[in-house]
This record gives sequence, structure tokens and C-alpha cells, in this order.
Amino acid sequence: MRQGVTQFTEISYYLMALLPWAGQPAGFYSHYFLESTMKHIVSLSLLAMALIGGQSALAADPAELAKAKGCLNCHAVATKVVGPAYVDVAKKYAGQKDAENQLVQKVLKGTSGTWGPVPMPPNAGVSDADAHTLVKWVLSQK
Ligand code: HEC
Repeated sequence: MRQGVTQFTEISYYLMALLPWAGQPAGFYSHYFLESTMKHIVSLSLLAMALIGGQSALAADPAELAKAKGCLNCHAVATKVVGPAYVDVAKKYAGQKDAENQLVQKVLKGTSGTWGPVPMPPNAGVSDADAHTLVKWVLSQK
């Protein structure tokens, strides 16, 4: 009950802050305004945090990360597009211990000549950690 009343009061403050000042002495609403602005900022930051949290939860799925980082503009898991199919990459490097680190460097810096004449440009905006996540995922394709 008390919770409901508090929420109602907050909402009223918020609405008051949105109302035009018309007919009120300047100071009348100002502290309500400040208070509700603060609450507004707090809820906006909470919202922003929730969104950012949601996004990294999304990025935790390597397939989504590959999409977000543009890998899937040139690659597909099972078919060659501009770059080799990820299943073929996985096959080629199967059992090679150092493959992950080497491929991470290629993903970050770009590479050419392994699969054909078309180079892979450096992938800007991909962090070291992202590259490891992506390469692990690529190498796990069957
Ligand atoms: C502009 C197109 C393009 C984009 C974007 C792209 N690639 Fe590539 N990728 C290629 C091409 C072309 C090759 C083959 C290069 C070669 O023959 O050496 C390749 C090769 C690779 C290889 C195999 C490298 C090797 O030497 O065997 C991996 C792994 C790879 N890409 C992962 C990624 C990942 C992960 C991303 C996203 C961060 C990505 N690629 C984005 C075009 C692209």
C-alpha cells in the first residue's frame, strides 16, 4: 500500500515537472522539478544499464557476435561467400594447437592468400577477446 502511494507521488511529481509553468510563481514547482529530474536521470541510467547489459548478453552468443561484427557479411557457416565457409576453416585447422592464436591475429589484422586471391581486410572494432570468442566458435563448426 505504502509502495503504491510512493509511486503515485513520484508519478505526480513527474507529471508536474512536465506541465507548463503557466500561472505559477517560478519557485513553486522547482524543487519538484529538480527531484523528478533526478529520478528521471536515475531511471534513464538504469534503463541504459539494462540495455547495455542486454547487449553484452547478446554478444555472449558467438553467432550473434559474428553478425554484429560483420563477419557474416562475408562468411557463412556452411557455404563459401566472399570468405571460406566456417566449417571448411574448422576442417583445415582441426587438431592444430596453435590455430586459434594464429587465426585471431589474421582476424584482427587481415589476411590473404590462404583460400584464394581475395583478402580479408583487418576487422576494425573487434577486440582481442572478441576475436578469440569468434575464432573458437569458427573452429567448433562441423
Ligand atoms: C570483407 C569480407 C570479410 C569480412 C568482413 C570477414 N572476413 Fe574472414 N575472410 C575473408 C576472406 C576473403 C578470407 C580468405 C582470406 C585468405 O584467402 O587468406 C577470410 C578468411 C577468414 C578465416 C580463415 C583465415 C585463414 O587464414 O585460414 C577466418 C578464421 C575468418 N576469416 C574469420 C573472420 C571473422 C571472425 C570475421 C569477423 C570479425 C571475418 N572473418 C570477417 C573475408 C572476410
